[in-house]
Amino acid sequence: MNASQFSPAQTPEPAAPASPDKTATGGGGHSLYGGVVNRRVTVRDLAAAKQRGERWAMLTAYDSLTAGVFDEAGIPVLLVGDSAGNCALGYESTVPVTMDEMTILSAAVVRGTKRAMVVGDLPFGSYQESPAQALRNAARLMKEAGVGAVKLEGGERSARTIELLVESGVPVMAHVGLTPQSVHALGGYPVQGRGEEAAHRLQRDAKAVQEAGAFAVVLEAVPAELAAQVTAELAIPTVGIGAGVGCDAQVLVWTDMAGMNPGHTPKFVKQYADLRGVLGAAARQYADEVRGGTFPDQAHSFK
Ligand code: KIV
Repeated sequence: MNASQFSPAQTPEPAAPASPDKTATGGGGHSLYGGVVNRRVTVRDLAAAKQRGERWAMLTAYDSLTAGVFDEAGIPVLLVGDSAGNCALGYESTVPVTMDEMTILSAAVVRGTKRAMVVGDLPFGSYQESPAQALRNAARLMKEAGVGAVKLEGGERSARTIELLVESGVPVMAHVGLTPQSVHALGGYPVQGRGEEAAHRLQRDAKAVQEAGAFAVVLEAVPAELAAQVTAELAIPTVGIGAGVGCDAQVLVWTDMAGMNPGHTPKFVKQYADLRGVLGAAARQYADEVRGGTFPDQAHSFK
């Protein structure tokens, strides 16, 4: 695939249904979200969803059990994000995450799922050196972990790399706007694209990754109006995080949306559950019962 693979004139057809109600596009082939499945969601399904204006949800996942829950819930795309650094591995940012770690986590998510497209993040330092380095590491995620696509950060600066990966058969999800791997260069996690010049830069970045052959692009921490404008300008789906409702899809870090992360919750995160509270209460009750000698009781003991 190259530059204009996903230009409006060449948007691919959706995958042909194997039989009614058993397709990755859901019952009757009309819905990407949910539905019975006999194969994984593909880049063609996502392109078709954009054409018919169907919004979809992406979540991060870092282990097989959680990924299985999201797969059963019908989430069509799971990202093994390098946010695993902060959300699963105990680092302060995504910067220390290694290829070995991403490979192990990605393989677990693939093993725990049947339907979702699994996208593996290329961590900091695994693709910036050269397109050849990027291809070597993307191929590793595909061969050793079994991911269906990779994600990498950067717009114009990553275009040549995306081109080589796509030409080599690696589906690429790009990531522009706020790119957390640059946290030290940015001095934090500021909103991107504010002001005319920054907005134009974001538009150029989004077009560059589409031209390079990316099948989708994450827009992170971008004013909602600008994200909606970029979404209208692109033929490939935009996946927003902190980018308003005008994107084609949304992504949230699962530990944020499920209330697992302690501390500050960013403005764009909606907490759909309080897992930290539920797990903490369960652990405290268990410890109380052990201390009080009421666990294990007869029902949980062998005769
Ligand atoms: O690593 C990650 O989880 C991400 C998402 C926030 C898009 O890049």
